[in-house]
Amino acid sequence: MNDIDKQTVVGVLNRLLEAELAGVVRYTHYSFLVFGFGRIPIVSWLRTQADESLVHAQQVGEWITALGAYPSLAIGPLLDSHKTDIGAMLRESLETEAQALGLYRELLAQVEGKSVALEEFSRQMILAEEMHAAEVDKMLRKPGELAAFAQQIA
Ligand SMILES: [Fe+2]
Repeated sequence: MNDIDKQTVVGVLNRLLEAELAGVVRYTHYSFLVFGFGRIPIVSWLRTQADESLVHAQQVGEWITALGAYPSLAIGPLLDSHKTDIGAMLRESLETEAQALGLYRELLAQVEGKSVALEEFSRQMILAEEMHAAEVDKMLRKPGELAAFAQQIA
């Protein structure tokens, strides 16, 4: 633990805290704007994502204070695209989740071989965020389409 560059690690953790908190607000906001037949399961899925982002934010915040640093009270960028179509929400979510995933990878690069616990934490978060992105990618495919959505737009 003493081998890590604490200032850099806390910097990454604070950006993650802000990104996860932005996720809480973003998913909650989306959940108000779902209309149509699919509303009930989609609202419930979006609220589950908001809850998960909050748990992630809390875990990240606990790490910041465990390292003896002060957690940011800021929140990541929130873009109101005024979209009420589910596809647009999911594409936006895929984009912002990819940024969070990038930050968890940055965290892993910082702590790898230096802190077993932080390394374990970042790997678990990378797993969770990648599985989440894969789920959203599948939701963005048309029924019967096998190719990943991310590959189609790449
Ligand atoms: Fe997350």
